[in-house]
Amino acid sequence: MAHKSNGDGIHPPESSGSPLRAFLGYSGAKPADPIVEDKNVRLAIIGSGYVGLVAAACFAELGHEVTCVDNDLRKIERLHNGEEPIYEEFLPGLLAKHRGQRLAFTTDLKQGLAGVAAVFIAVGTPATEHGEADMSYVEEVSRAVAQTLDGYKVVVEKSTVPVFTHDWIRKVMLLNGAEPGSFDVASNPEFLREGSAVRDFLYPDRIVLGVDNQRSSCVLHEIYEPLASGRYYRQKSRVAGPAAASVPPVIVTNAKSAELIKHASNAFLATKVSFINAVANICEAVGADIKQVCEGIGADSRIGRRFLNPGIGYGGSCFPKDLKAFYAVARECGYDFRLLREVSLVNEEQLQRFVRKVKAALWTLRGKKLAVLGLAFKGGTDDIRESPALAVVEMLLREGCEIRAHDPAAMERARRVLPDQGVTYCGNPYDAACGADALLILTDWEEFAALELDRLRTLMAYPIVVDGRNLYDPAAMSAAGFTYYSIGRSPAAAQRKIEVDIRGPAALAPARTE
Ligand SMILES: NC(=O)c1ccc[n+]([C@@H]2O[C@H](COP(=O)([O-])OP(=O)(O)OC[C@H]3O[C@@H](n4cnc5c(N)ncnc54)[C@H](O)[C@@H]3O)[C@@H](O)[C@H]2O)c1
Repeated sequence: MAHKSNGDGIHPPESSGSPLRAFLGYSGAKPADPIVEDKNVRLAIIGSGYVGLVAAACFAELGHEVTCVDNDLRKIERLHNGEEPIYEEFLPGLLAKHRGQRLAFTTDLKQGLAGVAAVFIAVGTPATEHGEADMSYVEEVSRAVAQTLDGYKVVVEKSTVPVFTHDWIRKVMLLNGAEPGSFDVASNPEFLREGSAVRDFLYPDRIVLGVDNQRSSCVLHEIYEPLASGRYYRQKSRVAGPAAASVPPVIVTNAKSAELIKHASNAFLATKVSFINAVANICEAVGADIKQVCEGIGADSRIGRRFLNPGIGYGGSCFPKDLKAFYAVARECGYDFRLLREVSLVNEEQLQRFVRKVKAALWTLRGKKLAVLGLAFKGGTDDIRESPALAVVEMLLREGCEIRAHDPAAMERARRVLPDQGVTYCGNPYDAACGADALLILTDWEEFAALELDRLRTLMAYPIVVDGRNLYDPAAMSAAGFTYYSIGRSPAAAQRKIEVDIRGPAALAPARTE
């Protein structure tokens, strides 16, 4: 892998004075230093999934020498061949820029770890059937890292893990032959969101470093220096950030607290989603408008407007499993965190409510042809893990519906898990809408909020839209000729073409035309 310290406008290297160099025992005057070339750190990331690959590309973008290690040979081959195994904005550009320069890929752990100062563990931590985090991948990696140590390294938890995991990693490494002074374990939780992962990584709200000694603290500070000092944000060739971006604060804690920060953050965010969904359900019952209610409560700076988006519930590879894992952690500590149980229950019920809403809009479901927009768990990603959209599709298939689905990025993955029977994959939303009895919006892709409504209406058998993401204004949809159902807002009847009675199943048969 070529070392390139100044090729992309990265700050020229300083020849000495790096605290990392001092801690690693270097004099500061060796440009051919095997571990750290001035401010550039050599590091490895184990696990090249949604987090590992994004982190690797972004660390390379910050000037570091990065090797991605994954035991999925096919994935590594694809990365070598210039393909992107996941859909994520800005990732193709970063991979193309750094591949073969500061970014390498391998399945060989020993090769990947040779001479690195830090090893980030970014493998999966899925839920077991009992709800705890399955730590077997992390354990396997810890064992393998212990057996390949070739000098001091900081082993960094990037995966989301239960509190005390750093202690377990340490114990496993010692049991597998690592010398006590040859490594430290630190926690550096990742807060990126799929769909905006690269920007979230490079423009984070905060950087949390959970370190239990100064040596590991120094290495991690060095790695994040380009962000923490603002140096990266002064680069011409940087990835453009959000309008209100600022230099992120670095929050230094002990490893235990950092582990808890990640679980508690995700649990809090999931709680916010379930809370607003519950309020949306009250709005529906009393005829209030959730959008107005969100404006009112979100204006309180203690609450904030962000993440108050009612919908069909949270999903994805993090919130559901992290909530369960945090609940399990609490149980282990002797605390019954029943609030989290309720958050999860509200989320499950939200899906059922949505399917009941579709039923109420259509009276019967058997044999109905439904256009489905969105299969990914959220917009901007191809990730379908725990996708509420897929859960809705599966429920509707069980009810005997025919699905015509479109998703800009997730159809290939969805095809692998949904039954073959009953689902047709369509190249665009209009194709999906052809002849549909109703159109359902299940994922908040930006393009789904900008549909050509006249075109859509003329393609559909009945102009009925059930919007699980509140992407449209009910009055505008009504004026465009749709009968429109959304979350936490009163249904809006079509003002032209076709009137469908929205009072409920008893009043729905048969649909009237003007
Ligand atoms: N996806 C997110 O948005 C997100 C955000 C923050 C934190 N996290 C956390 O990050 C971790 C990884 O999540 P992800 O979504 O990237 O998972 P992922 O399933 O996309 O990727 C995990 C990768 O690890 C590889 N792997 C597994 N065992 C390995 C081994 N022994 N050696 C080498 N590679 C191995 C797999 O092949 C896979 O490529 C999880 O703990 C998750 O909770 C995820």
